[in-house]
Amino acid sequence: MKVGHQLLQWSDTLATGIARIDQQHQMLINILNDANNCFRAGGNAEAQAKAIEDLIGYTIYHFDSEEELMESGGYGDRLPDDEKAHVREHRAFAKAATEYQLALKQGKAIDHETLFGFLNNWLVNHVMGTDQELGKFLNGGC
Ligand SMILES: [Fe+2]
Repeated sequence: MKVGHQLLQWSDTLATGIARIDQQHQMLINILNDANNCFRAGGNAEAQAKAIEDLIGYTIYHFDSEEELMESGGYGDRLPDDEKAHVREHRAFAKAATEYQLALKQGKAIDHETLFGFLNNWLVNHVMGTDQELGKFLNGGC
């Protein structure tokens, strides 16, 4: 395990109770922390772009997994509005993160605190709100 500054740390308050989702969220947090450390360490533009690419790649993979679980669990059949809103949040995040990635590729100066503040806040809010609702449903609640 890499040692470094932890922008975000896993804790039980983030758990949804769905093992696959929770494992992926822990991985996402590790990748986010690694990317943050790369920027903090003043990594070159190439390293920064790679760190963001890794983060986006894993995030998209994770969103696909969650959306598969929604599908197989009948989330959209029972709570179509909730499912649509959840998927919309995923799409909005992917769009915003991809815009940051493009700006980095174009060599635009991006404020590191702003970028990681956005990533961190989004993740915490989404995992503690929207994903909790999904977890409750998949665990047999309502
Ligand atoms: Fe989600």
